Amino acid sequence: MDLQNLQLGIIGGGAMAENILKGVLSAGFVSEDRLTVSDCHAQRLTYLKETFRVPTTLDNHELVKTSDTILIAVKPQNMKGLLKDINQVVDDKKLILSIAAGITCQTISEGLSGKGRIIRIMPNIAAKVLESASALCLGPAASPEDLETAKQLFEAIGKTVVVDEELMDAVTGLSGSGPAYIFLIVDALADAGVRSGLSRRTALQLAAQTCFGAAQLILQTGELPAKLKDQVTSPGGTTIAGIHVLEKKAVRGAIMDAVEAAVKRSKELGT
Ligand SMILES: NC(=O)c1ccc[n+]([C@@H]2O[C@H](COP(=O)([O-])OP(=O)(O)OC[C@H]3O[C@@H](n4cnc5c(N)ncnc54)[C@H](OP(=O)(O)O)[C@@H]3O)[C@@H](O)[C@H]2O)c1
Repeated sequence: MDLQNLQLGIIGGGAMAENILKGVLSAGFVSEDRLTVSDCHAQRLTYLKETFRVPTTLDNHELVKTSDTILIAVKPQNMKGLLKDINQVVDDKKLILSIAAGITCQTISEGLSGKGRIIRIMPNIAAKVLESASALCLGPAASPEDLETAKQLFEAIGKTVVVDEELMDAVTGLSGSGPAYIFLIVDALADAGVRSGLSRRTALQLAAQTCFGAAQLILQTGELPAKLKDQVTSPGGTTIAGIHVLEKKAVRGAIMDAVEAAVKRSKELGT
């Protein structure tokens, strides 16, 4: 469906909903009058209405009835109650998008008695600066066209990939938890800079921009990171001396173990 013709309803007006609102409105993907947000806190809705000039409601039934695409953005623990509540008003014509971590398409489908076309999305916290790495998967009854609609919507808050649902735990361990790994690395780089005499502010700026620049190089050139690494390691130079220490300390293995542990935990939480 053309995004301009979408009537989008967002249930749960929290942090992630705000990021998505900011993204889709600033990209011009959906206009204010084709959007509604619901939340259980009137004060929160007042804030969203004043900030984004979008219609809001405390009534989830009203939102579902007046929207063709419903983005569910409540916490995973609130999903069961919400699905039970909106089940009465959902029908097969509704496209249901869920970002609730760990809640499977099957659980959503069961909660809606098999009604609706379902797509699950796993964004990450960088949605706040419209740089999310989001993965989408196709659920029951949803069509490739629905997936395209969802993909376009989430491109308003960053980059998207499509995976099979069985890989959503892998996504959670990599890009869902990933920003925290990078925060830790940037913090460590900044500490190292301070230890070598830089001010905290300068060290942090250099560390964060270095991560950002390196990521941009990979994304913009399409080069393999290993090849880029080889390009900056001159014989007998400083960088290979640093790389040698990282390899001796098995940093590569530690990062792989960290992602594996997060994937395992995601599977445990989902069962
Ligand atoms: N934040 C992230 O970085 C991130 C990343 C990936 C995925 N996600 C997923 O995104 C979803 C939202 O996360 P968030 O951080 O934005 O949560 P949040 O800030 O807590 O926002 C959720 C909002 O929905 C409200 N709510 C709860 N039940 C409701 C209902 N039945 N009807 C209407 N509103 C309801 C909540 O009110 P109460 O506070 O009273 O419950 C809260 O205002 C979660 O499922 C999370 O797994 C988040």
